Amino acid sequence: VAEAWANSIDLHLDVAGTRVRNGLESALREAIRTGRLHAGTRLPPSRALAADLGVARNTVAEAYGQLVAEGWLAARTGAGTWVTRDPLPARQPPVTPVPETAPPRYDLRPGVPDLSAFPRREWLAAARAALGAAPDHVMGYPDPRGLPQLRTALAAYLARTRGVSAAPGRIVVCSGFGHGLALLCRLLRARGGDTIAVEGYGHRSHRRLAESHGLRASPVRVDGGGAVPAELGTAAAALLTPAHQFPLGVTLRPQRRRDVVTWASDTGGLVIEDDYDGEFRYDRQPVGAMQSLAPEHVVHAGTASKSLAPGLRLGWLVLPDRLVDEVVAVMEAFPSSLDQLTLAAFLTSGGYDRQVRHARLSYRRRRDRLLATLHRRAPKVRVTGIAAGLHALLELPGDRTEDDLIARAAGHGLAIDGLASYTAPGQRHAPALVIGYARPPDHAFTTALARLCTVLK
Ligand SMILES: Cc1ncc(COP(=O)(O)O)c(C=O)c1O
Repeated sequence: VAEAWANSIDLHLDVAGTRVRNGLESALREAIRTGRLHAGTRLPPSRALAADLGVARNTVAEAYGQLVAEGWLAARTGAGTWVTRDPLPARQPPVTPVPETAPPRYDLRPGVPDLSAFPRREWLAAARAALGAAPDHVMGYPDPRGLPQLRTALAAYLARTRGVSAAPGRIVVCSGFGHGLALLCRLLRARGGDTIAVEGYGHRSHRRLAESHGLRASPVRVDGGGAVPAELGTAAAALLTPAHQFPLGVTLRPQRRRDVVTWASDTGGLVIEDDYDGEFRYDRQPVGAMQSLAPEHVVHAGTASKSLAPGLRLGWLVLPDRLVDEVVAVMEAFPSSLDQLTLAAFLTSGGYDRQVRHARLSYRRRRDRLLATLHRRAPKVRVTGIAAGLHALLELPGDRTEDDLIARAAGHGLAIDGLASYTAPGQRHAPALVIGYARPPDHAFTTALARLCTVLK
């Protein structure tokens, strides 16, 4: 009996009045009428529902029988009892259809890698291995800094591949870079900071995030050598993309990296190094992380959004020692332990390295094709920011506007972005497109590229 009860389902019913059977019938009718129980929903066996409601089994059986007679339910021996009717249309609240915008057929907007290349099989194998080997306590409330297994694996990986000075104790695992940035903004506000310097070109969402935490986002000029350190002023923090400026694609010059670190140590300002695509460098050795110059002044922030997939919502902060507890104190949520375990297993098994190396090869080939094709078919377009990352900047000849090209591309089923949408207020820019060449699946890349050339011609 206990087994049958346990295999049943939960059903919330407000059984009102003193006559239990009538009350139960009304509650079931009401649940069907209002659409809480849809046609096809299987009801619990009478014995199980009787036990849940604390009434006699016969009472439930009789109520079911009455509703079968009225046509609300159907029953067959061995198959149970189920709802036959959908809610009465008259009682339905009017449904306003949500207009669905079809995703563009071809998408060359930056920010998302090729999702069809997500290593499903390897990720599943890592999840299986990790969950199989994990002790029970891993399923309890996790360490808010992140599971020790993952912080240890990340410390080794970041030190080896990015030169980060990363002891596991200074790592905090978070739900992607956006979450990490939100935590840091909260911390800056809690310490009385009021301004965060941001690059004059970057994600509007990051500027808005800072503003939603009560910080003023103050744009800093960016030129061919990256952000200009002299403009950091008295900000409480500086959010920078030193390895590969987003979206211009330039690298922060070595002297400027040193100047930024000097600014931090002189003013007490915190540097947030957004290393969103640091693994993808094509022309030479990856530029090492800036954090290693001054681990007590620079937060190194990384994410699995480009190397694996943004849907994982996994990222990490490598913090100055003195800030770890303060960040933990403002944490409101952390990623699932199962995902953390899987990423740890994926890193230690070498799966992450293999994935990054395959992706790097594939994206490099795409970048080369983009360059060669544009050279041939749109020679007036100057392509920059191509030494690294998953996007390129296409500087437009004087007679073209971003809006015109974006509209023409839309007419060809192709989504593209202009630099204007990444430009902070008050910053000037020449017309350009920011093309994310990693995004289409392999089979769509050729056509996407051909359509881009048609639009640019
Ligand atoms: C500049 C920059 N930073 C960070 C990210 C990653 O953000 P998240 O880890 O929240 O997905 C992106 C992704 O588009 C990005 O372009």
